[in-house]
Amino acid sequence: MSESAKRVAPAFAWVTNARGGGDTEGWRERLSAALGEAVDLRAWPETGDPADIGIALAWKPPAGALARFPNLRLIVSTGMGVDHLLADPELPVGVPIVRIIDPGLVGQMAEYAIYWALHHHRDMDAYADQQRQRLWREVPFTDTATRRVGVLGLGEIGADTARKLAMLGFATAGWSRSARSIDGVECFCGGDGFNALLRRSDILIDVLPMTPQTAGLLDARAFALLPRGAFFINMARGGHVIDADLIAALDSGQLAGAVLDVFHVEPLPAEHPFWSHPRIRVTPHIAGPTNPRTAAQSVAENVRRLRAGQPLLHLVDRAAGY
Ligand code: GLV
Repeated sequence: MSESAKRVAPAFAWVTNARGGGDTEGWRERLSAALGEAVDLRAWPETGDPADIGIALAWKPPAGALARFPNLRLIVSTGMGVDHLLADPELPVGVPIVRIIDPGLVGQMAEYAIYWALHHHRDMDAYADQQRQRLWREVPFTDTATRRVGVLGLGEIGADTARKLAMLGFATAGWSRSARSIDGVECFCGGDGFNALLRRSDILIDVLPMTPQTAGLLDARAFALLPRGAFFINMARGGHVIDADLIAALDSGQLAGAVLDVFHVEPLPAEHPFWSHPRIRVTPHIAGPTNPRTAAQSVAENVRRLRAGQPLLHLVDRAAGY
């Protein structure tokens, strides 16, 4: 064991405030297999002596929880987004944060987007209505090549989603802050690019991170730029959307429908108008569940690097927010 290895306290904490907790057993088993050792993973709040904890896996941790571990050397976000960590006013300063890169999660997010894009594209809600009326009628068909899909955010998830939609034959474009290039996907960037992407998106898919720059980005102005009758899929963060503007855009027919997996407040409060809006589908933040089977390798790689004193992968820039 190297000198740096000795300095990392031995136990791992799994810290989450999310309803249902986390898959502690799954993480313990998969991390142990990936590291080739019996990992001592303790689930919050039964984390034992706080001094034992060297590494924390966290998803929506209770505020102040991570600050309790005096020997913490690494925080691993078990979600791709890290806003849930940066929201903690007591988040230990100086402790590196890394994101997991989970190919399972990335693939599931793409599945969610593709599922709803196809649902809308193939008029499934209209056919469900017609079935209730015992009505045998064809809804005018839209050629896939002319259905323009726009993906906001071209990181791991956005790029995978856009590539797969392009493979299905959709006229696919994406937008990112800095320029990207993806085969088969028209890439936009910057402020003008944002407007241009909205203007050509019959189906808009949000996968952006939550940062001060993206807060409230999808407001009345943005919805008005979309082609009339556009469809919106939010699998990123509820904070991107001005809820009242979204409802107004749906009520006026500017938007045909919206599928929302994420909300300003989660769980979505029972009295929120989204629950009962006829053109909104609500899912409880399930678009991309983290899968310990596919995510453990990326965590284990960073644990090895930390112990060996090597540079960490997928480090989060706290100032940028991702
Ligand atoms: C889920 O929302 C994530 O950030 O991975």
